[in-house]
Amino acid sequence: FFKQKEEQPLKNKKIMITAGPTREIIDPVRFLTNRSTGKMGYALAEAARDMGADVYLISGPVAIDPPRGVEVKKVESAEEMYQAVMEKFSASDIVIKTAAVADYRPKVVYEEKMKKQDGDLTIEMERTKDILKTLGQEKTHQLLIGFAAETANVEEYARKKLQTKQADMIVANNVKLAGAGFGAETNIISIFKKDGTQKDFDLMTKQAAAREILLEAAADLQKGEH
Ligand code: CTP
Ligand code: CA
Repeated sequence: FFKQKEEQPLKNKKIMITAGPTREIIDPVRFLTNRSTGKMGYALAEAARDMGADVYLISGPVAIDPPRGVEVKKVESAEEMYQAVMEKFSASDIVIKTAAVADYRPKVVYEEKMKKQDGDLTIEMERTKDILKTLGQEKTHQLLIGFAAETANVEEYARKKLQTKQADMIVANNVKLAGAGFGAETNIISIFKKDGTQKDFDLMTKQAAAREILLEAAADLQKGEH
């Protein structure tokens, strides 16, 4: 795909993609994470590379190999991802936040392994930084794309995220649908844009979904409407 020049709609564009889950440390042997596998973000990185983009992939811990020809930065926690993203933000043309970033982290990180005691355990948690929201507040020329993995009210929540995060595009999927969940090879996406439009796609591979998202991004970037 996209080997010829005229088929490289993202030629010379700098695109930053975050992928995978984050890990929030409890103690030296335990952490909190989520079910993200990084497949959608890695598919986006590969497709963007094939469309001629200069790709910077910031990845949480995943079991898959990054695509060749893509610069990769591995991170673990939401805070590390935040730092990595902010460092490269001003030099990016497009940012796609595919990562499933932890919303909370343990307030205290224990230096030694926690020992069990009688009775229940409560771990006090504090909010992490909302990376996409920060980007929305600080953006100058960048096209900002967020994801929304939902289990209900997909349209309502996606539109809310467009607004609160000042994103140009939110790619939403209902992770409860067969073929659209975590770890699947396929996805069923809807693209919501700042201009109010919504595009619903049928079930397709994550590679095909990645190309659709990037073609939308390339067209918007060209229009310069963001
Ligand atoms: N996101 C982020 N930083 C966070 C949390 C989320 O950058 N601390 C980004 C995700 O990468 C994604 C988008 O925000 O692109 C939406 O994430 P999501 O978890 O669906 O939304 P939240 O705003 O965290 O709201 P909630 O989890 O309550 O639905
Ligand atoms: Ca969240």
